[in-house]
Amino acid sequence: MSKIKHAVLISIYLLGVAVVTLQAQTQIPHLQRQGTATQLVVDGQPFLILGGELHNSSSSSLAYMEPIWKSMVDLHFNTVLAGVSWELIEPEEGRFDFGLVDGLIEGARRHNLRLVFLWFGSWKNGMSSYAPLWVKKDYKRFARVRLRGGRTVEVLSTICPANWNADGKAYAALMRHIREVDGADHTVIMMQVENEVGVLGDSRDRSEAANQAFSQPVPRELIDALVRGKDKLQPDLRKKWEGAGSRNSGTWEQVFGAGPGSDEAFMAWNYGTYVENVAKAGKAEYAIPMYANTWLSSPQGKPGDWPSGCPEPHVMDIWRAAAPHLDILSPDIYAPDFAEWCNRYVHAGNPLFVPEMRGDADGARDVFYAIGEHDAIGVSPFAVDSIENPASSPLAASYGILAQLAPLILQHQGKGELTGFLLDKEHPSVKAEVAGYQLEISLDSIFGQNASIGYGLIAASGPDEFVGAGSGFRVAFSAKTPGPRISTVGSVDEGTLLNGKWISGRRLNGDENDQGQYWRFDRRLSISRCVVYRFE
Ligand code: DGJ
Repeated sequence: MSKIKHAVLISIYLLGVAVVTLQAQTQIPHLQRQGTATQLVVDGQPFLILGGELHNSSSSSLAYMEPIWKSMVDLHFNTVLAGVSWELIEPEEGRFDFGLVDGLIEGARRHNLRLVFLWFGSWKNGMSSYAPLWVKKDYKRFARVRLRGGRTVEVLSTICPANWNADGKAYAALMRHIREVDGADHTVIMMQVENEVGVLGDSRDRSEAANQAFSQPVPRELIDALVRGKDKLQPDLRKKWEGAGSRNSGTWEQVFGAGPGSDEAFMAWNYGTYVENVAKAGKAEYAIPMYANTWLSSPQGKPGDWPSGCPEPHVMDIWRAAAPHLDILSPDIYAPDFAEWCNRYVHAGNPLFVPEMRGDADGARDVFYAIGEHDAIGVSPFAVDSIENPASSPLAASYGILAQLAPLILQHQGKGELTGFLLDKEHPSVKAEVAGYQLEISLDSIFGQNASIGYGLIAASGPDEFVGAGSGFRVAFSAKTPGPRISTVGSVDEGTLLNGKWISGRRLNGDENDQGQYWRFDRRLSISRCVVYRFE
């Protein structure tokens, strides 16, 4: 080949590479399916959010934030979840101030972090404390919720177009601004729309407008969605609807049965459509993924003890019908049964993203479960700016390991090649099918010493090869494909992953793999790779 031809070919190749890179960079953050998983794609690559949410007021001051950025890096975060509030962005109607937003973006970039902004608009924890003063004062134009007995509360009513119009305008202005300053860099990768919405202290809004709407027929779009999705409805909602006669029309009480359940369904529809209006206005400006978060219900309580109308599992189908511009409905999981809440939130293909959870040793274990078992887009403990000794905290240890594993995790999501687990004395073992093997994963035990807690995740890294991370468990294999009957551990290497490349440490044999019987993880948090073989 002549030198000129060679040079031309190289130039064409480099041009091709440049075009592909440019395309990836110009794509805004979006969601994409991989097998059964939904992934967040940032700069053309799947991205696993290893995040943390700040205290509510931290991001209202750039000076206050300055020392915090470093501790977020020490915690091995790649993303920070930070509140941005309507009151500070639109202090006077129509006058916007994005200084704080710009400063947060700049701070995150300086520390190589991404951001998820939390839009504290009409509601935060059910209340409307983040609405600007000009909204709060004008209670005639911006109607409030009334509770049973006639008491008005400082909560903007969903049944008031002026409310969602004003909120939607401010949110749209924010999204327009983010597009202008960040549309090329993608520091902001996702948005939370409002925060834990819903009526507290009663099962529904009892203002005059709300009473009037409650006596009207259930909207046709919702009935159609129920009928269309009948076989896949969340079981509690389905029970309510079927219990009331599976009606195709009627008032809320006729369709969902009298009582707090129909009030909650009504509020879910109304909060859902309100948040839809806000999200839609924002997406018209800059359509990055958006989600709503949930203050979770409790089996002992009733709607109103938790914010009635919040996207609880039992009203998720109503939210889905009401808010197509929302990509994810998310749980804020502080309850001890972390796994159970994750299981509920993957209903009907809802991607799992946990924006709030515990940041202590429990939370540091739970993150493995959400990511390994449910292909979570990401996890984010709350109040991370008050974690003591960030660099040596349990969360930093977990994220340090998960950051190494992220490329492998993202490669194997949605393909039946990944599993995650939490073990304790009540749940000492689980079985999982991964890449043609059944894995029996149980609490580790050696020399009569039993672990009381085990957790981790395992990915199939190649044929008959697995990479796992975690602590306090051991794994036995049985093949599910034709071939020699017995499967066992061939070799185990401890190691690390550097930019996706495996670097071996100790060869673990003898006591460390129970003489070849188990792939063991002792009480330390570690990564290892196991090769399995079969014989008869
Ligand atoms: C849940 C809320 O979403 C957070 O903003 C914060 O208020 C926590 N509760 C406090 O526990």
